[in-house]
Amino acid sequence: MDTVIEKIRQDAEEFSTGEEEILRRAGSVIRDGGLVAFPTETVYGLGGDALNSESARRIYAAKGRPSDNPLIVHICRFEDLSGIVAKVPDEAVKLAEAFWPGPLTMILHKSEKVPYETTGGLDTVAVRLPASGAARKLIEYGGGYVAAPSANLSGRPSPTDAESVKEDLNGRIRMILDGGAVGIGLESTIVDLTVTPPQILRPGYITESMLRKVLGEVDTDVTIMHDGSGQKPRAPGMKYRHYAPKGELVIVEGKPDNVAAYINLRTAEAAGRGARTGILCTGGELSRYRADVVQCLGERSDEESIAKNLYAALRLMDREHVEKIYSESFEAQGLGQAIMNRLLKAAGHKVVKV
Ligand code: TXA
Ligand code: MG
Repeated sequence: MDTVIEKIRQDAEEFSTGEEEILRRAGSVIRDGGLVAFPTETVYGLGGDALNSESARRIYAAKGRPSDNPLIVHICRFEDLSGIVAKVPDEAVKLAEAFWPGPLTMILHKSEKVPYETTGGLDTVAVRLPASGAARKLIEYGGGYVAAPSANLSGRPSPTDAESVKEDLNGRIRMILDGGAVGIGLESTIVDLTVTPPQILRPGYITESMLRKVLGEVDTDVTIMHDGSGQKPRAPGMKYRHYAPKGELVIVEGKPDNVAAYINLRTAEAAGRGARTGILCTGGELSRYRADVVQCLGERSDEESIAKNLYAALRLMDREHVEKIYSESFEAQGLGQAIMNRLLKAAGHKVVKV
């Protein structure tokens, strides 16, 4: 299959005639059961008709994703929520007022309209109203309910630009809307509203303390920061090794001097054995490191830039055929919780304390 790539301004609210034509064409691909990758404020999504079980099957096939891993249904206006859930609880109204459109996904009891192929066999459905203007237009033209997992091959880091989507899915999907680099860089926060108190299943840009201000009590799934052995994460997708580069990634935690000394020593040893080496670090430490690829994620104080650069840096390590990667560690507070959650999964929870 030929994959058509078209440019679009992801944050626009008004579109030119040419862009309108592209968005309508992309929408009709989705309504006809085809797949379109598109930018959202978090990561690129792979969109298909959420109410068509055949489209859901195509999404799993294109990504090589296990079909028990449910998809998020994207809507373009709050009013459409009631069409796919059994009931809109007060908490959902409050959260939508505070954070939609935006990087928050809510889990609710599904209505009969949503096929089990979309929800991976569950009676609940994940719903999100994205902030990106192009995404919302595409959802509207695509019929109003667009299932969209991240647009990567299963197991690989989520794509934060159209190049990364192309790397994974070229020839496997009908269309890619290229809106440039995304704004946030990590997937949406997932909060489950079918349990009391509501529970965070995946940390993201909307943090626990932001959710507490709106909902009062909020829990976090205990498996978020652990390797999950013995305990089953409540978001089925979180159990898979995820976001992972091809090389072996190890996170090193400790005082900056110790971390730099350890990483440089291990990197030199690996290089001595003939391995290609890579380091993920923060701006202040950059000049201390020696490796084939030393990638700065941003200043330690600037978590937004670390979040935004993380997946692209992991993909760079693959493109550079790096076999042994060491990364600095981050405080698991606020947005740092989402950063560490993804980094730990990418590393298969390999952490060294020095
Ligand atoms: O930011 C995002 O959420 C991106 C963009 C494209 O919107 N999408 C995304 O989708 O990250 P995906 O499929 O890569 O991740 C969806 C996660 C998985 O971990 C899945 O298990 C969980 O959401 N999930 C979906 N439906 C669920 C449900 N009914 N109950 C529990 N977890 C659910
Ligand atoms: Mg994903």
